[in-house]
Amino acid sequence: MASRNHTVVTQFFFVAFSNSLELQISLFFLVLLLYLITVVGNILIIMITVVDPALQSPMYFFLRNLSFLEIGYTSATIPKMLVNFLSEDTSISFLGCATQMYFFSFLGITECCLLAAMAYDRYMAICHPLRYTAKMSRGVCLQLSTVSWLIGVLMGVGQTTFMFTLPYCGPNKINHFFCDLPPLLKLACTETYRNEIAVFTIAVTFVMVPFLLILVSYIRILHTILSIPSAAGRSKTFSTCSSHLIVVTLFFGSGIVTYLRPKSSYSLNTDKLLSLFYSVVSPMLNPLIYSLRNKEVKEAVRRVMARKIFI
Ligand SMILES: *[C@@H]1O[C@H](CO)[C@@H](O)[C@H](O)[C@H]1NC(C)=O
Repeated sequence: MASRNHTVVTQFFFVAFSNSLELQISLFFLVLLLYLITVVGNILIIMITVVDPALQSPMYFFLRNLSFLEIGYTSATIPKMLVNFLSEDTSISFLGCATQMYFFSFLGITECCLLAAMAYDRYMAICHPLRYTAKMSRGVCLQLSTVSWLIGVLMGVGQTTFMFTLPYCGPNKINHFFCDLPPLLKLACTETYRNEIAVFTIAVTFVMVPFLLILVSYIRILHTILSIPSAAGRSKTFSTCSSHLIVVTLFFGSGIVTYLRPKSSYSLNTDKLLSLFYSVVSPMLNPLIYSLRNKEVKEAVRRVMARKIFI
């Protein structure tokens, strides 16, 4: 029965955000602009952390990896989203939807893990400065990032396989901007309670564990910073982790609010707008936060520009 039901839905349709063409066109240009800023900003971060000799520390290794990830993370959902804003045909094939969900959850989970690795890096730098260089060697950084990517790949495969072995027998209208877990789960024609528990458990484990690690790191960082006697020293030390703290707060804040709310408080339109925050806005803010708040990055940009002008 399940396999017969399976063949009923061969494609999904995204529900338009609004009936007003003007609003759809405005959203198109807004999201396009944010996407372009994201891609250009993250490419600039990658380039500058490759070429500038002052940006070769573990922090910038992870930042480069994060920027690389953000480009993929946004490219998994935004191009299709842009087409849907303007096109009459908002369909997506079963396979297209699965691909989108795979990359989105794979890269989302990798991002959680990378942010945790970055918090660990800040913790070692601030709380154990003497052991820092030995503990955060090139090899350790590579291992931490490779493990983050591996966890993402495995969890992405697991979650997507799970979601796409559920029977879908219609309705096939996705009330969302892309194939995200909660809206798709609503379309599965089984008792989704058990599935919701499964999705919830995975989310709790693979979002909350990195989140808790980050929390513990920052509690210890805060403890160390508060024990610095001079105010100038405190603010100087804090400035080395403030960019990361803001990025973490934005990413986990919007993610936790969206995924970990109890079901009864779900309102699909609120969810849709919130999802724009973690899928579009937050990846754009990362390079901005790091370049505007971070003296080292600002100086590196200045050096690179001076060199270009000089040549
Ligand atoms: C990010 O890390 C992964 C795993 O270590 C690596 O394969 C990839 O090339 C890195 N990307 C960048 C841009 O540093």
